[in-house]
Amino acid sequence: MEILRYDLVILGSGLAGLRAGIQAALTSKGKIRIAVLSKIHAMRSHSVAAEGGIAGVLYPEVTGDSFDAHAYDTIKGSDFLADQDAVELFVKLAPEELRFLDHLGVPWSRTPDGRIAQRLFGGMSIPRTAFAADKTGFFIMSTLYDNILRFDNVDIYHDHMATSFLMENGVFKGFTVLDLKEGTLKVFLAKAAIIASGGAARIYGFTTVSYAVTGDGAAMAYRAGIPVKDMEFIQFHPTGVVPAGVLITEAARGEGGYLINKDGERFMARYAPQRMEVAPRDIVARAIIREIMEGRGFIHEESGLGYVYLDLRHLGEEKINTRLPFIRELAKKLVNVDPVYEPIPVRPTAHYTMGGIHTDTYGHVMFDAKNYVPNLWAAGEAAAVSIHGANRLGSNSLAECSVYGRLTGEAAAKYALEASSSMLELSSSLEEAVKREEKRIFDELFKTETNAEDPYQIRGELWRTMDTYVYVFRDEKGLMEAGRIIRDLKNKYKRIRVDDRSRKYNMNLREAIELGNMLDVAEIVIVSALARTESRGAHYRLDYPKRDDVNWLKHTLAYYTPEGPRLDYIPVRITRWKPEERKY
Ligand code: FUM
Repeated sequence: MEILRYDLVILGSGLAGLRAGIQAALTSKGKIRIAVLSKIHAMRSHSVAAEGGIAGVLYPEVTGDSFDAHAYDTIKGSDFLADQDAVELFVKLAPEELRFLDHLGVPWSRTPDGRIAQRLFGGMSIPRTAFAADKTGFFIMSTLYDNILRFDNVDIYHDHMATSFLMENGVFKGFTVLDLKEGTLKVFLAKAAIIASGGAARIYGFTTVSYAVTGDGAAMAYRAGIPVKDMEFIQFHPTGVVPAGVLITEAARGEGGYLINKDGERFMARYAPQRMEVAPRDIVARAIIREIMEGRGFIHEESGLGYVYLDLRHLGEEKINTRLPFIRELAKKLVNVDPVYEPIPVRPTAHYTMGGIHTDTYGHVMFDAKNYVPNLWAAGEAAAVSIHGANRLGSNSLAECSVYGRLTGEAAAKYALEASSSMLELSSSLEEAVKREEKRIFDELFKTETNAEDPYQIRGELWRTMDTYVYVFRDEKGLMEAGRIIRDLKNKYKRIRVDDRSRKYNMNLREAIELGNMLDVAEIVIVSALARTESRGAHYRLDYPKRDDVNWLKHTLAYYTPEGPRLDYIPVRITRWKPEERKY
């Protein structure tokens, strides 16, 4: 068993992970050794798929924008579940991050006078989303990746998948890690760690996210006794292309695109008369599904999926080519539609996990409302800080990744600089934990019983269940059924088979491990959604259609027990903005 020792280990190599790595390297001035673990090649992390942009107040003197305006939009968008102290910190640091990225070399789209261009996004009261055409994530990731390679004290481990957290007496000790290239289990011990492993929207079949977005960080934290927060709040992006589910950026509507039903009507006038297509995502997603449910949508013949149209034709070819070139390419490739001449078929698609590992305002991981894991931080979509509450505004996530990558990178590096090397010892009880994990992966998952269960059938059933019962509209009956199915799938999972028997680059094995994580996360989502008997942000209960601030202005914490998640609640931190009815 190979044991590697680092001052700081960062799990995940998306925008938050790379930004944290760069900050930790800068803060420690080469004095600590840092490892970045990625279960795929770092540059394939899902942040590369981010399209529309990154929010921040950049030129208030020119645009009239302000920190307060960004904070209020974010808090109102969150349906008042965001922690307001965290939002205030976030909006102040976001512009610094945009400038930092600018200095690193991100090739932004620009105004004729050379400023970073900003566009309108849903729920934002002013154009404040900086962008690089409609490939913003790809350009930021390329820039961060180029830059992190300059630091000699940062080692990037591609194709290294963490399988469990090692914890002792409430302190984080390290990870067990499957080296996919070699098919061996390694131990990474760390004085400090940052979890930046992304979200979990792959628990759905109809989704914008890549196959790698399987909630690994949240699932491992949960099994290690760390609570995950607000997991009932899954964001459905209004415009996933039908039938693939792939993202058609909100920038398409920010640039002026229309949503139209089968009568050719811009139906958003009925749901958000002031903001129309650029209302927050939860509102637009519900509007689309209502149109479909009430017979004003279209039906896709092969998949049976209902949809509406996203119409960009009036924007003209030049604007589409300069502002939305990737969308034109995607629509042509995926559905043979050229948006210059035809509308794009779309419906809401699972996109983002508002919930995640429970942290304080600064990304420091907590066991409850008071107690910390002293040497563990979480950043980006893996974390629930919470600045997004019940509904994130588009383009706040890339900004969050950068802001919290920086904050956690700095804090964890400072901790590691001070920490003693004795933290890097492997005790006999941890050795036992490592042996148990080795057995789980190489004996139990590699079982060859003839009647063993097919993991891909289980995954298909998971996707159907989540797409059907835990989608934009939910109710008790559906959530109960979803819970029953997931428990059944979890039982089947105990007897799965891994068909590929080889050790090296065994994708069946990786996907089997991911499936275990997805089942745990899906169960938390369902149990948390069933308990929350109100509608707030992205969580809409047909049987409880009103927001209920008296009983539910609080965060859900889910704790692992062998019988399933145990829920607890903590208050939302309100500083200056009292909850009010959301009107757009
Ligand atoms: O629509 C989009 O481009 C997605 C952006 C986001 O989720 O922040």
